[in-house]
Amino acid sequence: MALWGGRFAEDANKDVALFTESVSYDKRLYKYDIKGSKVHSAMLASCGIIPESTAKKIAVELDRIEKRIDSGDFTFTAELEDIHMHIESALIDALGDEGARVHTARSRNDQVNLDVRLYLRDEITSIIDGINDLMRALVDAADRHFGIILPGFTHLQHAQPVLFSHHLLAYVEMFARDAERLTDCRKRMNMLPLGAGALAGTTLPVNREYVCEKLGFDYVSRNSMDTVADRDFMCELLGGLSIFCMHVSRISEDIILWSSQEFGFIELGDAFCTGSSLMPQKKNPDIAEIARGKTGRVYGDLVAMLTLCKGLPLTYNRDLQEDKEPVFDAVDTVRMLLKVFPPMIATMSVNRDNMLASASDPALMATDVAEKLVELGVPFRHAHHRVGAFVKWCREHNCELNAVTLEEMQETIPEATEEFLNLFSPEDSVKRREITGATGPKNVSMQIDFWKKKLS
Ligand code: ARG
Repeated sequence: MALWGGRFAEDANKDVALFTESVSYDKRLYKYDIKGSKVHSAMLASCGIIPESTAKKIAVELDRIEKRIDSGDFTFTAELEDIHMHIESALIDALGDEGARVHTARSRNDQVNLDVRLYLRDEITSIIDGINDLMRALVDAADRHFGIILPGFTHLQHAQPVLFSHHLLAYVEMFARDAERLTDCRKRMNMLPLGAGALAGTTLPVNREYVCEKLGFDYVSRNSMDTVADRDFMCELLGGLSIFCMHVSRISEDIILWSSQEFGFIELGDAFCTGSSLMPQKKNPDIAEIARGKTGRVYGDLVAMLTLCKGLPLTYNRDLQEDKEPVFDAVDTVRMLLKVFPPMIATMSVNRDNMLASASDPALMATDVAEKLVELGVPFRHAHHRVGAFVKWCREHNCELNAVTLEEMQETIPEATEEFLNLFSPEDSVKRREITGATGPKNVSMQIDFWKKKLS
């Protein structure tokens, strides 16, 4: 008979047990469940609700149970539903009546909320560490490849030359925001739910502040009904992880394009690519492709979670048991991704010549010409129009923008001077952009220093 079996005359149907169990996946919470139960029983004893001696025995036995689970010497069965009941039941098996006191002033509704918060708190910390590793790998690459120029794109069309380091640091900015978002999510998550009971608190004189402090939470939840019904912290985490994956997917796309024969900008290390079972010549950027693919999976986890919560009346509903698999899946996916992505970035070698050749079309400097005209006092819209006419003239005469004489240039740009004929080197073009945030080498090198310091 189940631990809750008092009012039941029959055992659950076997398939019902399989349908309703969660232990197959929530067993990963066991250490947190044990940690919570130890503090909970110590608190019960300190409030005179259970004897001190019982709390001590419970703590010792919980440690023993933890070791048994660690070593695989513990049987999980669908009949005992979830990890909480497995541990409580093992405790009762070992301690009898004394074990039967652990669930005093507690419900699985606040207990599961506690366990997941404790677990995710740790996971978020590791994920943030991983994101910092990824940022470091990108900053190192930006440093190593400093000075290399490639075309920056808009609409996937050549736009203006930029430093490769500037391009890499754009992703560092994104990942920094991701880490910040997760830090923020962790702050809100760090609240003690235990004591909310099933939904209305307890009649017993518990001390929630004691538990809060011992478990390292920042504050005690204020509303027991909100507490047992709340899964915002999981939605927020999945939202944060989805945005992170969106960024990973974007850098993956860049990496995939750059490694293609058409671009030929980079090559990844052999250990981070795979071959084709049929075409012997192939070396594919599979990690980036799979990362791009896994992004869809994490979005799926977020949507599953949001859909799960939508429309649930207060307070706890068993639907909420379905919260764990999407969250675990997203956490596992992101952690795996963070294991392979930073070392993959570290193996990236760059074809400087291909990048520069691709950025050397003088048309990429058309904006520089228009801005030179602005310096001479021409209103920008007119300048834009003149340079547009100049580009058209060059196309019609089948010549590059830098292969004209001054007289020819002056046909469409009457204000042009000798100086205008020398505006077409990509190196000079990036050097002309030293305002804050732009791709100028001084600015970018300052950014590299900024991130190095911040991430050290
Ligand atoms: N396994 C359940 C869950 O994950 C624990 C809470 C169950 N509460 C209950 N009243 N049946 O949500």
